[in-house]
Amino acid sequence: MSEQIQIPEPATTRKVWKETDVGSVFVSNYPPYSFWRDENTAEIEEMLHTSDSGDREIPLGLYMHIPFCRKRCKFCYFRVYTDRNSAEIQTYLDALAKEVETYSTLPRVAGRKLHFVYFGGGTPSYISVKHLKALVDRVKAVMPWDDAEEVAFECEPGTLSQSKVEAVREIGVTRLSLGLENLNDDILRENGRAHVSKEIYRAMPWVKAQEFAQVNVDLISGMVGESWETWRDTVQGTIDLDADSVTIYQMELPFNTTYSKAIRDGGGLPVADWATKRAWHNYAIEEFAKAGYETSSAYTLVKKGRLNKFVYRDALWRSADLIGTGVASFSHVGGMHFQNQTHWDPYIETIDKGQLPINRSFVPTKEERLIREMILQLKLGRIETAYFQDKFGVNILHQFGEAYQRLRDYEMLDFDSQSVTLSREGLLRVDQLLPEFYHEKYRNSRYT
Ligand SMILES: C[S@@+](CC[C@H](N)C(=O)[O-])C[C@H]1O[C@@H](n2cnc3c(N)ncnc32)[C@H](O)[C@@H]1O
Ligand code: SF4
Repeated sequence: MSEQIQIPEPATTRKVWKETDVGSVFVSNYPPYSFWRDENTAEIEEMLHTSDSGDREIPLGLYMHIPFCRKRCKFCYFRVYTDRNSAEIQTYLDALAKEVETYSTLPRVAGRKLHFVYFGGGTPSYISVKHLKALVDRVKAVMPWDDAEEVAFECEPGTLSQSKVEAVREIGVTRLSLGLENLNDDILRENGRAHVSKEIYRAMPWVKAQEFAQVNVDLISGMVGESWETWRDTVQGTIDLDADSVTIYQMELPFNTTYSKAIRDGGGLPVADWATKRAWHNYAIEEFAKAGYETSSAYTLVKKGRLNKFVYRDALWRSADLIGTGVASFSHVGGMHFQNQTHWDPYIETIDKGQLPINRSFVPTKEERLIREMILQLKLGRIETAYFQDKFGVNILHQFGEAYQRLRDYEMLDFDSQSVTLSREGLLRVDQLLPEFYHEKYRNSRYT
């Protein structure tokens, strides 16, 4: 079906991957992106131009992609630019604002309130206060978010100043997320991060002073150069920072990272194997638990007594509507998935012409929608069978009985008639388990 399906990725195969090979592991959507097509975009446009009163019940979110970074990290797979000047950034932000303005007039969206907002990247905190305020003024004029339950904003520590943190608070951000990744400067430098640890320690008091409803920090288990000793120090140092929420990713190497290219060019494998990354991740969960953190998903730990919710994640995993704006962004509206133009010029040019920059899409069947929600919610560590019975009229333990039984035999999860609960071993490798539930035609294919 696809010219790309020759190279299976761990995110679509049941094969047990031992070494950290090149290919996506992280499952963020279903069916795999490699099956999305550009033929359906007229159907998407038609849907967006048709109002549907049923939509008023569905939570609506707005994602804005800010694709700028100080440096490209050697492990990063996001669409980012490190060479744009202030005028180019202004051009991009104008296009982004225009895209939101266009959406706000579409019958499918007009008049609906925003339930959540997400500034993602790239690095939203890279842009200047002046640029940020001008963008927010234009966007809020057509899609206000004063009543939104969550406004999330991603930051790279070295891009923050006291006045920028204050501006981020002023625009209504409730969840500020900081990409720490590690606290060891040699490891940060080796992996191509633009920041070093002193920038984290400089930014943290500014962040705390603004009393955001929630502060999250990201760590990666398995950065190049990591050892047990350095990881223990990073975990302890992060506990001492006392963030409300800590997100731990295991290092993966999708095809388009600097490290992946070096590996494909014969550079050897610089990243710890999956068993080691899981052991480090598990150690972190144990240590954070001793310091009062509870598991909120396969990746996220939240300190007891602090705000324990992540509206963006939970809404997406329950098929909320999401307008994804900016280059390469993903949307889900009216039961249809679509992605924007993935490169700068076509993105800007399409918006300049007054058109929506939709590049490819996928219209899932009811069974695909069910599988999508089930596998994404499994990442929370526990799902209730009644939710799927009520929403899809399906008993998931019957429909996917063989897969659940097999995973129980491997002690990855347990279930009874009410719920499915992942074991710690299951949680630590949840992304590698999810292809068990894929339809045969989506297995052993490219994921992205
Ligand atoms: C958009 S970035 C966060 C904001 C900012 N750009 C930064 O890096 O500080 C999202 C997060 O994805 C994670 N990430 C990026 N590439 C990864 C990879 N190859 N494997 C695992 N996690 C990765 C990092 O933890 C990073 O903080
Ligand atoms: S991890 Fe963050 S800072 Fe690094 S290149 Fe990716 S988006 Fe930019």
